[in-house]
Amino acid sequence: MTNLHSDALVFFGATGDLAYKKIFPALQGMIKRGHLNVPVIGVAKSGWNLEQFRARAYDSLEKHGGIDQAAFEKLCGLLRYVDGDYQEPATFEALRKEMGGAERPAHYLAIPPVLFGAVVQQLAQSGCANGARIIVEKPFGHDVSSARELNQILLGVFDEAKIFRIDHYLGKRPVNNLLVFRFANSFVESFWNRNYIESVQITMAEDFGVQGRGAFYDKTDAIRDVIQNHLLQVISNLAMESPARLDSESIRDEKVKVLKAIPPIAEKDLVRGQFRGYRNEKGVANDSEMETFAALKLEINSWRWKGVPFYLRAGKNLPVTCTEIVGRFRKPPSLIPAEALKENHLRIRLSPEAIIAMGMMVMTPGEEMGAETIEMLASRSPGAGYMDAYERVLGAAMEGDATLFAREDYVEEAWRIVDPVLKTRTPVYEYEPNTWGPPEVERVVPPGGWSNPNVNGQLVAVAA
Ligand code: BG6
Repeated sequence: MTNLHSDALVFFGATGDLAYKKIFPALQGMIKRGHLNVPVIGVAKSGWNLEQFRARAYDSLEKHGGIDQAAFEKLCGLLRYVDGDYQEPATFEALRKEMGGAERPAHYLAIPPVLFGAVVQQLAQSGCANGARIIVEKPFGHDVSSARELNQILLGVFDEAKIFRIDHYLGKRPVNNLLVFRFANSFVESFWNRNYIESVQITMAEDFGVQGRGAFYDKTDAIRDVIQNHLLQVISNLAMESPARLDSESIRDEKVKVLKAIPPIAEKDLVRGQFRGYRNEKGVANDSEMETFAALKLEINSWRWKGVPFYLRAGKNLPVTCTEIVGRFRKPPSLIPAEALKENHLRIRLSPEAIIAMGMMVMTPGEEMGAETIEMLASRSPGAGYMDAYERVLGAAMEGDATLFAREDYVEEAWRIVDPVLKTRTPVYEYEPNTWGPPEVERVVPPGGWSNPNVNGQLVAVAA
C-alpha cells in the first residue's frame, strides 16, 4: 500500500524548548531539500500572534544552525499559529480553520505526556483527527503502566499504523548504518555472535550538564532519558537478526525479538551516579536522588547472544561528548604470553563523527620481539552531508514510513527491562564533573575494563 504524504503539519508545544532547539531547524532543513510544502501550524498557549511566532522561528534558526534566507521566507509563508488552551474546544475549532482543506494532517505532540489525553480527545471531537497521523515525543511514559495508559489513549483514537513514537536516535544515519554494516558485509556475520564476541559495551557520554532542563530531568533521570530509549535502540540494531523483508514491520519485529530476550536489569548490575552540583540546578530538588549517570549490565538470551554480557554507560558532565560501541573478541589460543595478548575489538563510534575500527594485534616495529594493538579505521566527519535526525524523523512520519519509530509492543518491552530497577531506587553515588562517573562504577565493569572514548577519535588505552 502506498502511503500518502501528510498535507499539513500541526505541532503542539510550538513556543516550547524542543520547537526552539530542534523543530524549527528541522523545518528549515526540510524546505531546503524540497521536502516541505504544506501548511505548518504551531499551537501553544502563550498569548502570541503569528508575527511573534515567526520572530521566534527566526531567533531559533539564528541560534541553531543559521538562517537560510530563501528557506526562511518560504517557512514564514507556510507558518500559521493558533493560540489557546489544550482543554478548550475553541482552540481546536481555530485549528480546524487554520488547517483549511487538509485531509491528512500530521499532529506532532511536542508537549509533556500529561497533556496527551486532553489533546487527543479534543482532536477527535473537533474532527481534526480524521485521516490524521500522530507523532509523539519521548519519553513515552515513565514506566510500563504509564506507557500502556498512553498507548490506550492514543489507540482510542488512532490506529497503530498512524502513530509515530519518536526516538531521534533512529533518525541518526550512523545508527541506521549498524544494519547496513552488519547485513551488507559477509565477513561481519562470521564473528558477530557469541562464538567470537566476549562482551559488548556502549558509552553515551556528554560533557555538559542538564542545560537548564533541571525540572524535566529531575522527573526523568538518565535511565528514562536515554537508556530506556536511545541505548536500547542501539542494542536492538546491534543484536537483531536480518529481517525477512525490508518493510517497516519486518524490521520492527526483529527489534522487538531482541528486547523480549533481555531479562529485567538486576539491582546488582546497576550503578547510579549524580554529578556534584546537580542539586543546585534550577528546577532540581535539593535532596534529589535522580541519577545523571548510570552503568549497567544486561543479557540477551537469544541464540546469537546468550552468554555475552552487554554493558551500557550513560552520563552528563563526563569528560567528552561521544557515543561509542566496543565489541571485544575472545582471545585466540595464541603462543603469545597471556599478559601481552590483548583482545581484538570492533569499535563503532556513532557521534560526534562516524567511525568503524577493527583493533588487532601486530608485531611492534623495531628489533625486539613484541606485539601491540593497532586499529584499521574508517571514519566520516559530522559534516558528511548527514541529514539532521529530527529532520529525518519528521519527514519519515509525514511520509507515513514507520521504520524509524518505536512500535507499541517495543516501548512496552523496553520499559519492562528497566521497570524493576526504577522502582527499587538503588543508591545514587556522587561523582565529580568531568570524570567517568562515581568510583562505585568499579562494581559494573566489562571484562578488560571500560573503554573511554577520546576526542580525537583514536584508540584509547584501555583501563585494566
Ligand atoms: C535527548 C535527551 O533525548 O537526547 C538529552 O533528552 C540528550 O538529555 C540528547 O542530551 C542527546 O541527543 P544527541 O542527538 O545530542 O546525541
